[in-house]
Amino acid sequence: MVMGGGAIGVLGFMGFRLASHFLPRPPRKVLVKEKVLPAPGGVKVGDGYFLVRLSGGQLLVLSRRCPHLGCTVNYQPSQNIFLCPCHQSRFALNGAYLSGPAPRGLYELRWEKTESGLILEIPG
Ligand code: FES
Repeated sequence: MVMGGGAIGVLGFMGFRLASHFLPRPPRKVLVKEKVLPAPGGVKVGDGYFLVRLSGGQLLVLSRRCPHLGCTVNYQPSQNIFLCPCHQSRFALNGAYLSGPAPRGLYELRWEKTESGLILEIPG
């Protein structure tokens, strides 16, 4: 059987799409202006991240991706914890594991302070 150039091109494209599905994606960079950083004891909920200012003033940047199966974790201000809606894993404000099926606490994200604010790296 002889394949034309079009069929080879389609197969090549499909192979590329399949391969790119398994390749790691580069992290997304997010700028957070200094003026929106939380006060001590406060939490800012972002797209893929939590910014936490601990009562001692230390700033933490945590991933919202649950370490169990990857659901998006929410902040529960009434209990001052992070809660995963999928299987109810609970995490302390410093990201530490409290309960549920998650095998560990929330992941800390890379960030750097610049003149414009904080630049966060959100994994792809
Ligand atoms: S995905 Fe979060 S507890 Fe299962």
